[in-house]
Amino acid sequence: MKKLAINGGPKTRTKPFPAWPVWDEADCAAVADVVRSGQWWSGGGTKVKEFEEKFAAYQECKYGVCVPTGTIGLMIALRAVGVGFGDEVIVTPYTFIASASATTQLNAINIFVDIDPDTYNIDPAKIEEAITERTKAIMVVHIGGHPADMDAIMEIAQKRNLKVIEDCAQAHAAEWRGKRVGSFGDAGVFSFMASKNLSCGEGGIVVTNTEDVADTSWSIHNIGRVKGGGWYEHSVMGSNYRMTEFQAALLLSQMKNLDSQTAIRNDNALYLTEKLSKIDGISPLPWDDRITTYGCHLFILRYRAQEATRERFMEALKAEGVHCSPGYGPLYKEKMLSAPYDPSLATHPDFARIAEYKDLHLEHTERAAYKENVWLLQNTLLGTRKDMDDIVSAIEKIMDNIDELED
Ligand SMILES: Cc1ncc(COP(=O)(O)O)c(C=O)c1O
Repeated sequence: MKKLAINGGPKTRTKPFPAWPVWDEADCAAVADVVRSGQWWSGGGTKVKEFEEKFAAYQECKYGVCVPTGTIGLMIALRAVGVGFGDEVIVTPYTFIASASATTQLNAINIFVDIDPDTYNIDPAKIEEAITERTKAIMVVHIGGHPADMDAIMEIAQKRNLKVIEDCAQAHAAEWRGKRVGSFGDAGVFSFMASKNLSCGEGGIVVTNTEDVADTSWSIHNIGRVKGGGWYEHSVMGSNYRMTEFQAALLLSQMKNLDSQTAIRNDNALYLTEKLSKIDGISPLPWDDRITTYGCHLFILRYRAQEATRERFMEALKAEGVHCSPGYGPLYKEKMLSAPYDPSLATHPDFARIAEYKDLHLEHTERAAYKENVWLLQNTLLGTRKDMDDIVSAIEKIMDNIDELED
């Protein structure tokens, strides 16, 4: 008789894992208070300003500018550090599309550098060879909340005079050697969309320790207005990228959970890493002592068994009652990024590198994307120890009976 749930055997787990978002009556009251106040926009209320100060300080930054989404925040941050037409920005291909589309939308050019197979973040050892005289910035992504090697990256950036934007959309509260992400580079960008570890449905923030980056970001997000200037004085090309008071009120209220939820996720992720590392064919990303807090937006495990494909393994894991995802494909394969934003630039010699994406084959990115990567999501990590044991049991069961998955 077959043992795996995918073949009709008993499921390891029938109960759902913790739901997301987690909310309470205080969150409802925070939003209702804004409704009653009649001050629904940041020009009249105080919530956006309060959240900007509180969250920026939390991430060890002096300034914060709230924006409608992380995607918009990345574009604003790139512009605020001076990225523009024809500039090259070095980026990992193993990330959400916004980390790269922000560059494309500025008529700048993404230069993709392979990941380190043990972190799934950009490999700092490969950055220097990608730098040209047109390189302006490095877009660092802390994938899954796993901080990138900021020692190595900042050293290269300083030596080669490059700007650094940190895409921290998945890395709230994460720390590299005791310092919070977003505070290393010229600017950091966080997302507060529905799945993120701190959320108000949709939202984002640009954080920075540099006053002029903060001021330029503020102007771009406020239709080009000048801080301290006239209401109808518009200095740089901007748009209306302001956050509402409702979003900020909910974020302020939700922040009460961030430390405790981060601690639970870190505990559970460490436990899973220890347990799953003992299973042949399963290799979670190694725990790095220089990371003092993981953002734990994703728990990334590498499936390395030969007997069945990653897809069959994932189908089996879902059948056992554990939700999982295969994650991203390499961004250089995305059609949306494979041409300049302005179509008239398609034949411009400065943009020729975009046409070369079709010939790119970055080994570790492709292995991660197509063969190895399995994600568990952050809400799963909010479970109990028993929940984690169920995940381990489900994976052990599949690996013990992997012959049932052979095609
Ligand atoms: C790594 C990364 N960057 C950027 C974003 C964009 O954030 P948003 O969805 O708030 O636009 C996301 C979120 O989806 C993300 O995961």
